[in-house]
Amino acid sequence: MNTYNRFPITVDKAKGGYVWDIDGTKYLDFTAGIATCNLGHVPDVVKDSITSQLEKVWHCSNLYQIAPQQQLADLLTANSCLDQVFFCNSGAEANEAAIKLVRANNPNNRHIVAFRQSFHGRTLAALSATGQKKLHSGFEPLMQGFTFLTYNDFDSLNVLKENPPAAVMLELVQGEGGVIPAEQSWVEELVQVCTNAGILIMIDEIQTGMGRTGTFFAYEQYGFEPDIVTLAKGLGSGFPIGAMLAKDGTANAFQPGSHGSTFGGNPLATAAGIATVTEMTQSNILENCGQMSEMLFAELKNLQAEYSFIKLIRGKGLLIGIIVDGQAIQIVKAAIKENLLVTMAGQNVVRILPPLNVTAEDVSLFCEQFRNVLQTVSEKFYINE
Ligand SMILES: Cc1ncc(COP(=O)(O)O)c(C=O)c1O
Repeated sequence: MNTYNRFPITVDKAKGGYVWDIDGTKYLDFTAGIATCNLGHVPDVVKDSITSQLEKVWHCSNLYQIAPQQQLADLLTANSCLDQVFFCNSGAEANEAAIKLVRANNPNNRHIVAFRQSFHGRTLAALSATGQKKLHSGFEPLMQGFTFLTYNDFDSLNVLKENPPAAVMLELVQGEGGVIPAEQSWVEELVQVCTNAGILIMIDEIQTGMGRTGTFFAYEQYGFEPDIVTLAKGLGSGFPIGAMLAKDGTANAFQPGSHGSTFGGNPLATAAGIATVTEMTQSNILENCGQMSEMLFAELKNLQAEYSFIKLIRGKGLLIGIIVDGQAIQIVKAAIKENLLVTMAGQNVVRILPPLNVTAEDVSLFCEQFRNVLQTVSEKFYINE
């Protein structure tokens, strides 16, 4: 169906930080499948894990024990402050599960507070929790029970105190909404308010998790422990999988029959997840993410000094937004002509998402080519349209 505006590139194969189209043209991919191929394309460790699982069993219903599913749950709980995991197949589904878990915990309070400019997915409950009117438009009536407050705004916290919801739901860097990091002091006060009022904290780490911001989960950098965390995107390195993690006290509200999924936690997807999480926690990939982030921020700030239509560089780790005075799409299109893939986050934000194991050579190459892109754009377009 006509649900996507696609660029005229047909990807034929991909490896590491590069993709090739059917004509053999090679692109440096700084989108990583929109923050999904965090280990680069077709990482050998994940390929090997899926391949050996392919020989054993592909699908097993959740009527039976699934060893790789248990193993992945153990890895995720060992590397987080959460105790239990529910597996599904996508980010939106992980958020659906989280919303149901909040409801299961709070029969007398159905109210969830989310934030303006957030993005939590396209299914109806996840969409209802998404704070972007343009995405709601045409799909009303939405699910009841969600209200929106302003992100990074201290007045919002007074509203929470006055009328405590069952849960708050937020991203620690709003990804689709424009690459907007939450401010440390605001998060600290939000956590204080929620702790005092018994409000559950649900963090959507679908884009920020799996190392994207430099730590395995973004919440680690803010120094608090969420009650519920959702994951997807990078968890399977491109193999579809989602997960909803919760602390025991919250997770125990689910009983057999409360929720389920035919494919959720299947052997192939969890084999991909095991290899991904193992690689992420045992290699130096998070360290590399931090170093390459510093390098990219520094180089992008140099470009900002050269091109006045670049207003701001913001983000965390390798989730970086370049805010331009103009249409980001012009830059994305010009980048394709320079064999670079970058994406957007709203009309005036170019979003760059290299794989977390990107090399210094590829960062340098990117910046060199991206300068050409900016030069073309500044010469050819009236950017401020
Ligand atoms: C923060 C966040 N939540 C939820 C989703 C939805 O994930 P999916 O597309 O896998 O349903 C996304 C996807 O971009 C996301 O960035």
